[in-house]
Amino acid sequence: MADAASNDGFVVFDRVQKSYDGETLVVKDLNLSVAKGEFLTMLGPSGSGKTTCLMMLAGFETATHGDIRLGGQPINNIPPHKRGIGMVFQNYALFPHMTIAENLSFPLEVRKIGKSDREAKIKRALDMVEMGDFGGRRPAQLSGGQQQRVALARALVFEPELVLMDEPLGALDKQLREKMQFEITHLAHELGITTVYVTHDQTEALTMSDNVAVFDDGRIQQLAPPDQLYERPENSFVAQFIGENNTLEGVVTEINGDKCIVKLDDGEIIDATPINVNKVGDRTIVSIRPERVEYNKERLQEGVHTLKAEVLEFIYMGDIFRTRLRVAGNDEFIIKTRNAPDVERLTPGQQIEIGWLPSDCRALDA
Ligand SMILES: Nc1ncnc2c1ncn2[C@@H]1O[C@H](COP(=O)(O)OP(=O)(O)OP(=O)(O)O)[C@@H](O)[C@H]1O
Ligand SMILES: [Mg+2]
Repeated sequence: MADAASNDGFVVFDRVQKSYDGETLVVKDLNLSVAKGEFLTMLGPSGSGKTTCLMMLAGFETATHGDIRLGGQPINNIPPHKRGIGMVFQNYALFPHMTIAENLSFPLEVRKIGKSDREAKIKRALDMVEMGDFGGRRPAQLSGGQQQRVALARALVFEPELVLMDEPLGALDKQLREKMQFEITHLAHELGITTVYVTHDQTEALTMSDNVAVFDDGRIQQLAPPDQLYERPENSFVAQFIGENNTLEGVVTEINGDKCIVKLDDGEIIDATPINVNKVGDRTIVSIRPERVEYNKERLQEGVHTLKAEVLEFIYMGDIFRTRLRVAGNDEFIIKTRNAPDVERLTPGQQIEIGWLPSDCRALDA
């Protein structure tokens, strides 16, 4: 995956802005490059501009400023039917009066594909989503999940180079959603399709994508593969948005290369890694994942600062223990510990000492 807005991406957003009313920008200076065959997800809260970006890419909206390029060409120079884009939207209606096979035939007829070719492609697409036996039915005779699969088959039947999906699994129950997440990524990779996928479900984004663009307020806050996004959030928005994170507030009192010391507001001292704090005196929110906090004395690293904590709640969850602590005045400090014979089960009221590797604790903008 190339860096933002390089010219070699298959899909490129180059300094794209969008305003609907001529005043407020709902997309602000967006740079994004999606490589051929890549599965990219736009993830972000409601109203952050995800659908707007997809609509501009599809050609249903135009950018107010900047360029969108597809295969190196500005998209507004390519007529919609030549863009080769397949689309699946949330509750994207199938044509109710047509059979499933006719629904799939439609995009092929539009592209002037002959009858015998059409039949072969329809069969292949329906088989792909395991709906091969349903070609003669009408949409109303299918379950919601089956309709979603047909919508997916219809988006893929003409073998588009690019598929856009906007919350395509939103209406499905958890089990079917997870199955479809797997099917979609599997198909996209198998067929070498470039996919731009929109969701506000972070688990979905993490499990499906090669890269995730985290949106907030019309900007990409971070663009990275799932593991990097989770383990190395670059700012406090991303740290808060992806997964669970404990936060403590304080002031940077020392910076030494990739280590810094933070004095928390209640006076305690901790070690952290400076991410987007620049100098001594900067206010910071430090963030630590619940599974990276250690309370077993033997496992606490020599020489790093520890913090006193009071156990408020201990929840046995089977595979893990989830413990809520009061740490530096924060009553919502969570730690997760793997359930193992040598791990102590804590009791509310107990006083413990916690610590972490400085590399697991990130000092971010306040
Ligand atoms: N056709 C439109 N006319 C005017 N404003 C619009 C239009 N479509 C979207 N907006 C505004 O643009 C902003 C971004 O909307 P968009 O639909 O892109 O968000 P989103 O990230 O897809 O949100 P959601 O997760 O709720 O679908 C919102 O403030 C929205 O109100
Ligand atoms: Mg949307």
